[in-house]
Amino acid sequence: SPNSVVLGIETSCDDTGCAVVDSTGSILGESLYSQTALHIRYGGVNPVFAHELHRSNIESAVSDALRNAGKNIKDIDAIAVTTRPGLLLSLQVGSKYARYMCRIHNKPLIPIHHMEAHALVARMYHKVQFPFLVLLISGGHCLLALVKDVNNFELLGKGIDNAPGEVLDKVARRMKLRNKPEYSKISGGQAIELAAQRSTNLSQFEFPLPLAKYRDCNFSFSGLKDSTIRKLEERETEHNVMGDELIPEVYDLCAAFQLAVAEHIAHRTHRAMLYCEKYKLIDPNNRVVVVSGGVACNNFIFKSIEHVGSEMGYRTYRPPHNVCTDNGVMIAWNGIEKLRKQIDIRTDFSLKVEPEAPL
Ligand code: KG4
Ligand code: ZN
Repeated sequence: SPNSVVLGIETSCDDTGCAVVDSTGSILGESLYSQTALHIRYGGVNPVFAHELHRSNIESAVSDALRNAGKNIKDIDAIAVTTRPGLLLSLQVGSKYARYMCRIHNKPLIPIHHMEAHALVARMYHKVQFPFLVLLISGGHCLLALVKDVNNFELLGKGIDNAPGEVLDKVARRMKLRNKPEYSKISGGQAIELAAQRSTNLSQFEFPLPLAKYRDCNFSFSGLKDSTIRKLEERETEHNVMGDELIPEVYDLCAAFQLAVAEHIAHRTHRAMLYCEKYKLIDPNNRVVVVSGGVACNNFIFKSIEHVGSEMGYRTYRPPHNVCTDNGVMIAWNGIEKLRKQIDIRTDFSLKVEPEAPL
């Protein structure tokens, strides 16, 4: 159809996100019930709590998005919902609700892969043609992939331990950044970015580049986390820091840690670009890398990738910040892309959720 309208529903982790998007890429309406805002996120996601909040928010999230769009469910051409990967109970809330809506209103149902949606939504904002390179960095995932088509992804590398956002959150928590009011209502990753801007001497802390001798595109952040916490503990002892106090060098340590995270991510992205060059996987006239996921909001990290990209002749794109983090817009947009190509359109309302789903 010339201009389709899709309702997208995202509940794979701890945010309940919905949006109504049309095939021109306009966001007609959206809603987000974020658990990060309640700042229960620093310590990681609690699956039981997340499930409960999705259940109490899902109905309002859907009706808010429709109301903001000025649409009735009758005006919607299809409902797209995240079915994989993610937390089992969380995924079930969205997919059950989507299935129920589709059944009573007789609408086609489109299952969406959360990571594919993160990658494809860049096409809503920028001129990005297949194939392109994607780097997804968030609190739950870390991967590099070649996107050949809407439903054709080739994984090039992934995190072998903690995700970068998870490590940023843990380090922020351990540094007690939340005790400062200006960092108390934001994610750990964002707190580290802001704290790092106040650094005056980061060279006193040095970290080795993770996996430096491996020629693949995998990631490892747990070593960086451990050595940062070790340096923090050394300084705490040295300054005899007690209770809720922060170490005097906290800004410098944040900056040095953020630099190490950025260098590692840029180094692996560079490897992926070299691999794509070697096997001619990317059109030399159309070298594009898309960066998304919550950690992509970090301007310092983004600029490091942009720098490597420009050296390799790549244009580096990222969606707006609120579309880098988990949201309903990317799910609705992926629904539009699948509708266009008539991929995965379910009219029998069958859906299965898959907590573990490779690209
Ligand atoms: O994509 P997202 O909302 O959820 C998933 O994990 O899937 O990402 C959340 C993560 C958190 O770990 C948060 O600390 C990180 O993204 N994050 C940031 C920034 N803003 C959010 N990390 C670094 N710098 C930021 N500005
Ligand atoms: Zn995500």
